[in-house]
This record gives sequence, structure tokens and C-alpha cells, in this order.
Amino acid sequence: MFEFQRGPFPRTRPRRQRRFEWSRRLVAESTLQPSDLIWPIFVHPQSGLQPIDSLPGVDRLGIDRIVDAAKRACDLGIPAIAIFPVTPADLKTDTGAEAVNPNNLVCQTVRRIKSAVGDSLGVICDVALDPYSSHGHDGIVRDGDVVNDETVAILCRQAVIQADAGCDVIAPSDMMDGRIGSIRDALESAGHVNVQIMSYAAKYASAFYGPFRDAVGSKGNLGGASKKTYQQSPEQTDEALHEVAIDLAEGADSVMVKPGMPYLDIVSKVKQVFGVPTFVYQVSGEYAMLSAAGQLGWLDRRDVVLESLMGFKRAGADGVLTYFAPEAAQWLA
Ligand code: PBG
Repeated sequence: MFEFQRGPFPRTRPRRQRRFEWSRRLVAESTLQPSDLIWPIFVHPQSGLQPIDSLPGVDRLGIDRIVDAAKRACDLGIPAIAIFPVTPADLKTDTGAEAVNPNNLVCQTVRRIKSAVGDSLGVICDVALDPYSSHGHDGIVRDGDVVNDETVAILCRQAVIQADAGCDVIAPSDMMDGRIGSIRDALESAGHVNVQIMSYAAKYASAFYGPFRDAVGSKGNLGGASKKTYQQSPEQTDEALHEVAIDLAEGADSVMVKPGMPYLDIVSKVKQVFGVPTFVYQVSGEYAMLSAAGQLGWLDRRDVVLESLMGFKRAGADGVLTYFAPEAAQWLA
């Protein structure tokens, strides 16, 4: 690849092509557009907006605001949103029963959005029990263990009710073993053959999820417990590729790496090895860091956000879940 046929300096001057904006644009290898963005949205059961202290600029949206947000996403050219519910404390139980209530907040939200904007916007729903469980874990806990198979059975029901409500993409974020295949089978049996599965395939046990847990109110429930028995350790690479291979074999349509910036090597490898639609989640803690530095005047918000998003594209991501989505889409317009 690197044959210097023109001979070294001064014949070869890489700066020639960097000299003008038109030339830099012409040789640009990666691109960033609103169609690369997925907007994660928090929805709460009352009306109006609720700020989130650790995610300045991101609000929990009342169920009355959700259609406006969906229309805003359409207007900005954002292809899809991902919905995360805030469950009132009195609805949280140790089995997360509200997750399988066909009239829960997520299902109501999906129905509202779909009846307002139809197929102009993709709707992605998380599958995991943490927004609904009194202990804050993604599954059922028995004798201190998050039990796998029993959890998967519930996740299948959760996926089916969300698909029944009109969800386009089921996104299991729980990291239980075998859940993709079981959910695929459950969706097929329920007639949802065209509902996609975007698997959180390589999801790490990360300290960068803190503000998200504030936003959905699961931090208190979790009470400092870790998710290391089901989410991956940060030192793992082969294990991430293995997880992706398993999820693809079980029927995932696309895969995700999460968090984003500290795991760009994983994004790159997944894309190179599997060549399938690969997404990356710029998680809440990443949003918080860039926002905070911007607020302090230490970094330029717009520049660092767009640079970080381009980094994901350069690493090989086909799309990015990011709380900056509407703002970035506006900048890119
Ligand atoms: C829940 C879930 C989490 C996130 C997305 N889905 C949190 C967790 O695993 O504890 C984190 C997203 C973010 O930090 O922005 N299963």
C-alpha cells in the first residue's frame, strides 16, 4: 500500500491536499450526516419536561411531549429514536413485572409515536428489566445471582409486547446468554417477522452509565451493586467478538458496541471482522463529560461533539446512538 513511487519529500507533500477547504472535502474518507444518528429519549409518565442534573440539556419528556420530539427527529433527518422509560417507584418489583404490561409507558409511547409519524421514523425499544426492577438489575435475581434462563423468558414477553405496540427494532441490552435466539423465535411465533433485532452485543460493565441510571432512576435501586456477572469486563476484546458472533448466529440484524469513545478499537474490529451493520452508543457519561467541559469553557462543545461523532464513523460505525443527536443534526444541516 505505501509505495512511495513519487519519491520522498519534496515530491510528496501531504499538505498540498490539506491547503484548501474544497480539497479537504474532496479527499474526505469518512462522512457524518443526520442519517448516522439515533436519538435516545427518556420518557416519564407525567406531563412536561424534567431536567436531569447529570445530563445538562437533556430532559425527560412527558408522554405529552413525545410526539413533538418524534416530529422533530423527522424534521432533522434523524432516522430513528430509542425510547427509555422512567418507571415510578411503586411500579418497580423484584420481577420487573411492569416490563411485560402491554399498556406500560414504553408501549403507550410507541403507539403514540407510530400513530403520529408512522414509518417516517424508526422506533427502537430496549429490552432489559433494569428500568422496572426494584433491585435495578437487568434480570431476575435469585440468591444474589442474576438468573439467565428465567430472565430470558421474561425478555421474550417484553420484546413481543413492544413489537405488538408497533416498535420497529428490539434492542436487547441485558447481556443474558441466548436471548437473541429466544427473542427471535418469540417474535417469529407472534407474527413479527419483520421486526428487527439490534443487539447490544458487546456491552461493557462501565462506569460511564452513571447519568443514565440517574435519568431512569435505577441508580438508587442498584445501590452500588455491579453488573459484572453479565456485562463484559473492559479488558476483553476476543470476548466481544465472540459475543457478536453468537448474536449474529442467533439472528441479530445489527450489533452494537457500548460505550463508545473508550471502545473504538472494538467498533473497528467488529466492523472489520463481521462486516454487518454496526452501531455504537455514545453513552450518558460521555455526553456528561463533553457537556461539562463545554459549560466550563474548557472545550468547544460543537467541535468536540462533531469530532467525537466522526471518530465513530471513522472507526467503522454505521450509526451512533447519542444524546447529542438533535443538536448535531442541526449543526450538520
Ligand atoms: C439498561 C441500559 C443501560 C444503558 C442503556 N440501556 C444502563 C445499564 O446497563 O446499566 C446505558 C446508556 C447510557 O449510559 O447512556 N440495560
